[in-house]
Amino acid sequence: MKVLIIGSGGREHALAWKVAQSPLVKGLWVAPGNAGTELLVERRGLAGGNVPLNAENVPELLDFAETLGIDLTIVGPEAPLALGIVDAFLRRKLAIFGPTQAGAQIEASKAFAKDFMARHKIPTARFAVFEDYQQAVDYLRQADFPVVVKASGLAAGKGVFVPEDRARAEKALYEMMVRRAFGEAGEQVVIEERLYGQELSVLALSDGRTVVPLPPAQDYKRAFDGDQGPNTGGMGAYAPVPFVSQELLQEIQRTILQPAVDGLRKEGIPYVGVLYAGLMLTAQGPRVLEFNCRFGDPETQVVLPLLESDLVEVIQACIAGRLKDVRLEFRPAAAVTVVLASRGYPGPYDKGMVIQGLERAEALDSVIVFHAGTRRAGQDIVTNGGRVLNVTAVAPSLPEAVARAYEAVQHISFEGMHYRRDIGQSALQAVGTGGGDGA
Ligand code: AMP
Ligand code: GLY
Repeated sequence: MKVLIIGSGGREHALAWKVAQSPLVKGLWVAPGNAGTELLVERRGLAGGNVPLNAENVPELLDFAETLGIDLTIVGPEAPLALGIVDAFLRRKLAIFGPTQAGAQIEASKAFAKDFMARHKIPTARFAVFEDYQQAVDYLRQADFPVVVKASGLAAGKGVFVPEDRARAEKALYEMMVRRAFGEAGEQVVIEERLYGQELSVLALSDGRTVVPLPPAQDYKRAFDGDQGPNTGGMGAYAPVPFVSQELLQEIQRTILQPAVDGLRKEGIPYVGVLYAGLMLTAQGPRVLEFNCRFGDPETQVVLPLLESDLVEVIQACIAGRLKDVRLEFRPAAAVTVVLASRGYPGPYDKGMVIQGLERAEALDSVIVFHAGTRRAGQDIVTNGGRVLNVTAVAPSLPEAVARAYEAVQHISFEGMHYRRDIGQSALQAVGTGGGDGA
C-alpha cells in the first residue's frame, strides 16, 4: 500500500512511525512532514518521503494522491478536515481517514458542538451561545456562577478564556466580539459554566457506528512547571492515566462517546475517524469540555506506542464500517512524552538552531524521539518551530517511563531549549478525581 499522512508535527511523525511498522505498507508520504518523517522513510527503505505541500492545500493534495495512486490518506490536523478534505477525496473515490466537513463541525464550531450535546443529553457544562455583544454581556452580568468564554470557531487553541473575575470575562467578550481578535472564529461566542477537576483526553476510533476508546491520556497545556505560565499546544503527555478505572472508561463510553457517534449518525453525519473527547472529571462525573475531530497532539505520541495492533488494518476497518470485528491490542505499559520547545515559545521564537545529541537519545532502550518543528540543513537537523521534539519513552510502569524520558532529554540540546520537568507528576501524585487542574 501507498499511504499519505497530512501534517507536519509530532503527531504526524508518531502516525508515520506506527504506519511504517505495518507489513502492508510499501510507500509512505508525509505532506509537508518534518526532518523526523523524512529520516524515518529513508531508514525504513520505503518509497516516498516528505511532500512540499501545505496541509491546507486541498486541491494539490488531492491531485498528488490521485497521480501517485495513494491507497490511504490519514489526516492529522483539524484545518483540512474543516475545509472538507475528506469530502473532496471521497468524491474522487480515494480512501481517507477522518470525518467529513459536516462531522468536523464537532470541533470547528463550539456552538454546534454544545447544541449537539444538549440535543443528545451528553454531559457538558451549562452554556449559552451569543452573536450579539450586548446580549452576551447581559447574560454574564446575571450569571450566578463562574464562567468560561470561548470563541466558537477554530482559533488554534487560543480562543478559550478562563477569567478570574467578571471584569476579565467582559474584557474577553469585548476582545472577541467587538475588536474581533479572532476574526470570524469569534463571531459566535459560547459562555459556559466553569468546571473543576482533573482533565482527561480520550481519543476514540469510530467507523460511524462502533466507537473504541484508546488508552486515556493527560496533556500538559501550560508552558511551565506546576501548570504556570501561558497556554501552549501541549508541553507533554502520558498514558494510560492510573486513576481512570475500567468503570469510569465504560461510563465515558456509555454517556459520551457512543451517544456522540449515534447522535451524529442520526443527524445524517456518519462519523468516521478519531473522536477526541476533552473531559473534566468533576465530582458529578465526566463532562465534555470540547470535542476534537482528529488525533490529539501530543496525546498521539503516547497512545500509539501502546498500540500493538496494526494501525493500518484498524483504520481500514473504520473506513469499511467493520470496526466491531477488530480487537485492539494494547501493551500493558506506560508511555510519556516530554516536549522540547524553542526559546520564546508559545510567543515568538527563534528558528534554525542546530540540534545536538539526537542519536545518543534515540540509542536508549525504549526511547523514541518524535520530531515536531525540525528540518534538515545539510548534515544538521535544526529547529523549525515552537515545539521542536517530543522525547517519548515506553516502560512497564509510569515512574520508569518518566525516568527514561528525562534521561533521554539530558542528551539533547539546542540553543534556547526549554521543557517542563514535571510531566507525569500529576499522575504520580493524584488520587481520585477533583482538586486541581491536572493538566
Ligand atoms: P477547550 O479548547 O474548550 O478544551 O478549552 C481549553 C482549555 O480551557 C481546557 O483544556 C480547560 O483547561 C479549559 N476549559 C475549557 N472549558 C472549561 C470549563 N467549562 N471549565 C473549566 N475549564 C475549562
Ligand atoms: N492536546 C490538545 C489537542 O490536541 O487539541
